[in-house]
Amino acid sequence: MSLIYFFLMVFSFSNLEAQAPQHTPRELAKKLYVSLTGTQPSAAELNFLEPKIQAGQKAQAARDIIDQTSPINNGGAFYSVTIKDWATPKFNKQKTTLAPLNDGTATIIGMIRDERPFNTILYQDVIYKATGVTFKGGQLWYFDTVYPVIAGVTPSVLCSGLGLTAGQFKIIYTVPGSSAKACRRTGFTQAQLVAARDIDALYVPHKDLIIETNLVATTNRHYESISEQGLDLSDRQLLISQGQGSKLHTSPAAIAGLLSSRAYGSAYFFAGTNRAPVAYAMEHFLCKDMEELNDTTIEDNRNRRDVDRSPGGSSTLYKNRCVGCHAGMDAMAGAFAYYDYLNGKVTYTPGNVVTKMNHNALFSAGYVTGNDSWINYWRVGQNAALGWSRDVTEGIGATSFGRMLADTEAFHSCMAKQAYEKVCMKKASANEDLARVARLTSAYKNSNFNMKSLFINAAIECLED
Ligand code: HEC
Repeated sequence: MSLIYFFLMVFSFSNLEAQAPQHTPRELAKKLYVSLTGTQPSAAELNFLEPKIQAGQKAQAARDIIDQTSPINNGGAFYSVTIKDWATPKFNKQKTTLAPLNDGTATIIGMIRDERPFNTILYQDVIYKATGVTFKGGQLWYFDTVYPVIAGVTPSVLCSGLGLTAGQFKIIYTVPGSSAKACRRTGFTQAQLVAARDIDALYVPHKDLIIETNLVATTNRHYESISEQGLDLSDRQLLISQGQGSKLHTSPAAIAGLLSSRAYGSAYFFAGTNRAPVAYAMEHFLCKDMEELNDTTIEDNRNRRDVDRSPGGSSTLYKNRCVGCHAGMDAMAGAFAYYDYLNGKVTYTPGNVVTKMNHNALFSAGYVTGNDSWINYWRVGQNAALGWSRDVTEGIGATSFGRMLADTEAFHSCMAKQAYEKVCMKKASANEDLARVARLTSAYKNSNFNMKSLFINAAIECLED
C-alpha cells in the first residue's frame, strides 16, 4: 500500500466520523413519512418515495406524503394526526392533544390544506365545516336513485320530479358517471334560512354517509361525528371553508377568525374575566407566556377594579408583580368585552359589556370596561420585541385585536418554531435549531404564509440529523 493511499484512507475515515450520521435514501424517506404523519410507511410507499429522495426531491416527496399521491395512502394522517395534535392544545386550558376535532382545529387544518395565508387566521371570516345535504325540517331534500334509502329521506325521486319549476332548485351534486343527483331548493326567504340553520343531520353525498348534526354554534357534535367516523380530512369535498356568519355568529362584528370560534370560546370565554383569550393567544400564537411578558414598567390605567392594589396588604407586591401582567393584558382584554360562553355557545352582545368584565370591584378607582375598545401598551418596553407592525396602538373589538396579533413578527416566528418542534420532535433551543427556525420563518413569510410549505421545510431541516 502506498503511503499516499494510506493517508487518504485515514483522512476519509476521520472525515466521515466528524459528519452527521449518514442515512440511506430509503431511511430518509421513512423518516420524512413518520415525521409528517406520525404513521409508518408501507414497503410499497417507500419504494415510491425512495427514488425521489435519491434525486434530491425532498419537498416533492413530502407533498406526495401529505397529499397522498398514489400509491401513498395514510388516510390524511398529516392532517388528522400531525396538524390535529399540534392544533388541539390551543383550544383547551389543559393543553391536551386528547380532544376531538372542533371548529378551531378543523379551520386550522382546512387553511393549511388549502394553502391559504395562515397569517389571516386570527381575524378572517372563516370556519371549516362539512357540507352536504341537510334533510330534516322540510327545506332541503335529498333525492337519488342509487344511494340506499335513509330513514326520513324521500327516496328515489329525481330532481326534476320535485314539482318545482326550473330555477326553484339546484343540483348540488351529481354522482360521477351516474344519473343520481342531490338537489336543493333555492330562493329561500330569510325566515326559511333561519329555520334551515336549525336543521339537524347532514348527508354527505360523495361519501354516502351522515354526519350527526349540521349545527356548530351550540354543540361540537358535528366535528366529533367527523372524528368518530375517521374521515379523511385531506378530502377537499368534506371540510369546506365558509363564513362564520352562516353558522356561528349573527353579528358580523363578532367574527375574528379562530378567536371567535366555538372552541376558543369554550376554552377562554367560559367563566373567568375574559382575560384568558388574551393570555392564551399570547402563548399559543406569539409563543410568549404571561411570565415572559410581565413588564412592571407599563402604565396601569386600564387595570380593572378586581385586581387588588395592595394584595395581602402590600402595594409593593402589586407594583412589583401584579402590574406586570395586568397592565398589558387588561388593556387588551377590552377587545372581548361583548363575548361570553353560555349554555354551550359563544355569545356576543354588541354594546353590552358582559358582567364578569366589571365584577369584584375591590379597588373602586380601577378601570371600568364600558365598551370593547382595547389598547396595546406593550408596544414599548421589553415587549416591543414582539415586532408589532404598522401603527396600530389601539382598536375596537376582537377582529382588529386579532389582526394586530397576526401582523406581529412574533406570530410568524412562533408558527415556524412550533412547526419545527412538532415535526422534528424536539425543542428549538440549541443555536443550530434557532438558526433553522429563523430560516424557516423567512421562507414562510416569503411564501405568503403557507403553513403546508412551512411544515414540509421544517421536516426537511432536521431530516438528516
Ligand atoms: C404572570 C402574569 C400575572 C400576574 C403576575 C398576575 N396575574 Fe392576575 N391574572 C393573570 C391571568 C392570565 C388571568 C386570567 C386567568 C384566567 O382567566 O384563566 C388573571 C386573572 C386575575 C384575576 C381575575 C380572577 C377571576 O377569574 O376572577 C384577578 C382578580 C387577578 N388576576 C389579580 C391579580 C393580582 C392581585 C396579582 C398580584 C398578586 C396578579 N393578578 C398577578 C395573569 C397574572
